[in-house]
Amino acid sequence: MLRVSNHFPSNHHEVGRFGLVMEIRCVAVIGAGTMGAGIAQVCAQSGWKTHLFDAFPEGLERGMQRINAFWDKGIARGKTTTEQKEEWSNNLHSFADMALAVAEADLVIEAVPEIPELKHSIFSELDRLAPPHALLGTNTSSLSIADIAAATSRPENVIGMHFFNPVPIMKLLELVRHDLTSEATITAAQSAGAAMGKTTILVKDIPGFATSRLGVALGNEAIRMLSDGVASAKDIDTAMVLGYKHPMGPLALSDLVGLDVRRDILKNLQSSFNDDAYAPHPLLEKLVAAGRLGKKTGIGIYDWSSGEAEETELPE
Ligand SMILES: NC(=O)c1ccc[n+]([C@@H]2O[C@H](COP(=O)([O-])OP(=O)(O)OC[C@H]3O[C@@H](n4cnc5c(N)ncnc54)[C@H](O)[C@@H]3O)[C@@H](O)[C@H]2O)c1
Repeated sequence: MLRVSNHFPSNHHEVGRFGLVMEIRCVAVIGAGTMGAGIAQVCAQSGWKTHLFDAFPEGLERGMQRINAFWDKGIARGKTTTEQKEEWSNNLHSFADMALAVAEADLVIEAVPEIPELKHSIFSELDRLAPPHALLGTNTSSLSIADIAAATSRPENVIGMHFFNPVPIMKLLELVRHDLTSEATITAAQSAGAAMGKTTILVKDIPGFATSRLGVALGNEAIRMLSDGVASAKDIDTAMVLGYKHPMGPLALSDLVGLDVRRDILKNLQSSFNDDAYAPHPLLEKLVAAGRLGKKTGIGIYDWSSGEAEETELPE
């Protein structure tokens, strides 16, 4: 019987199994890319011991550097003190071994690429390696949470924890429950989200959830319009920013999210709904094939080498 207390100090929350109640002391984040690094940063800032793991040394290094750079920028802008950075840095540890990273985790958040087989194998490993009480969250943007949970012997502890990019800034945390997710797991994930300063929404395990379906469909359509020569990239983006009050245009947002990430989500929606309306546009495929993945590679739909979005030649 799971029992979750309603009373916990701001950066502690309790999650338990078999009547055991414990506070979150340690969070493990699997994958140190765009999302994993941001999630680990926010966890460390929330006062939790945070273990960041990546299967690739360069991925881990890049993630740790990104977090450090974010904190340094905060200091330069007077938003973060050196004492805060020191405290947060002390909470954050990088791991090249997943078994060590998750051994004492109360909460695990997975943020590896959007490839079903990869997520399933990670969750089957987590089932073997993480403590029995651990809450197992996945940051998938579009995959079935039930399928991911089925790779474990504890599907009741598995929940979608869909963060937004950039994680330290974006306030939304979309929690995705599948049929077997327990109420205690939902409550614990809501508490963890609140402790991280996020507003949570709770949605059902339907492909694309609430947010990804809308986001990728808009981005793909904007790429189709760009390819059709309807308007320049900047003008398409400006249409949505000034015409519809979006804070950022759909093309710039696609570059920020990562064109490979967007392409993978579209493919998953295309096969889950068996609907070619979600097929990634050929221009999107060409950009990904050329290694133009967006801001993270310096070039995508736009050239980001100056730090700002600049129009550039697109592949034929
Ligand atoms: N980028 C976004 O804006 C965004 C937003 C919400 C959700 N997501 C989801 O978050 C997840 C990660 O996306 P991302 O943009 O951070 O991807 P990314 O490519 O930036 O990072 C993925 C990281 O996972 C690492 N990795 C690969 N295989 C691994 C393994 N077996 N074990 C551990 N680490 C491994 C890679 O080295 C890389 O550092 C995806 O499921 C994606 O759909 C992305």
